[in-house]
Amino acid sequence: MAKLGLNVDHIATVRQARGGVEPDPVTAAALGELAGAEGITIHLREDRRHIQDRDLEILRRTVKTKLNLEMAATQEMVRIALRVKPEQVTLVPEKRQELTTEGGLDVIINAKQITDTVKRLKDGGIVVSLFVDPNQEQVKAANKSGTDYIEIHTGAYAEARTWEDQKRELDSIDAAIKLARKVGMGVNAGHGLNYANIKALAALGGIEEYNIGHSIIARAMLVGLERAVRDMVNLIKYA
Ligand code: PXP
Repeated sequence: MAKLGLNVDHIATVRQARGGVEPDPVTAAALGELAGAEGITIHLREDRRHIQDRDLEILRRTVKTKLNLEMAATQEMVRIALRVKPEQVTLVPEKRQELTTEGGLDVIINAKQITDTVKRLKDGGIVVSLFVDPNQEQVKAANKSGTDYIEIHTGAYAEARTWEDQKRELDSIDAAIKLARKVGMGVNAGHGLNYANIKALAALGGIEEYNIGHSIIARAMLVGLERAVRDMVNLIKYA
């Protein structure tokens, strides 16, 4: 059975907007697990724009399912991962100016750095996943690096506007899944997945874990708003 890894970065984004203490991604992670998420994903970015070191430290102690740390393959991040020991690290490319992760890793051009990083993390007992585009050459290069998993970047599929474009992207994803599994890697997927596009992707089969953040947190805000407003109206009315 495929699993949901809940990405709670956006909870931290709202907290950081005020620089305060709420909403707390640690609380969101616990609620997510209670609702059935089988993993919690956070991206500790170099600029600490949303998730903070404190979140990682506390989540390491409180997550009961699986903690998946997304990070760049830098010396600083490898040091942190080897100290905190999440169950899984997903290596992602990171640019300071981007709003969110914009593409998969180039495992061909950065083969040495990525292979060294994969080895250091695996030697530390951490399962490693590489975030890659659904491209056969990248999947082959990922396999050469020694990684346990790839996470297929589903952004192009999520952004496809016509059924033909979606079908083309699904075909590339399906081919990437098949190649990865044939050579013995596990397959995760994520980026831009939502309540409309998940079905056709999940129907492909072969994906172990979906890492989803934006659409779930966005929906939570809307489905939770009525209750939140009612609670405040009642406090005002019955003061
Ligand atoms: N997987 C990876 C590697 C990501 O970088 C992100 C975005 O942080 C996600 C999954 C989740 O993407 P989204 O927030 O669009 O669901």
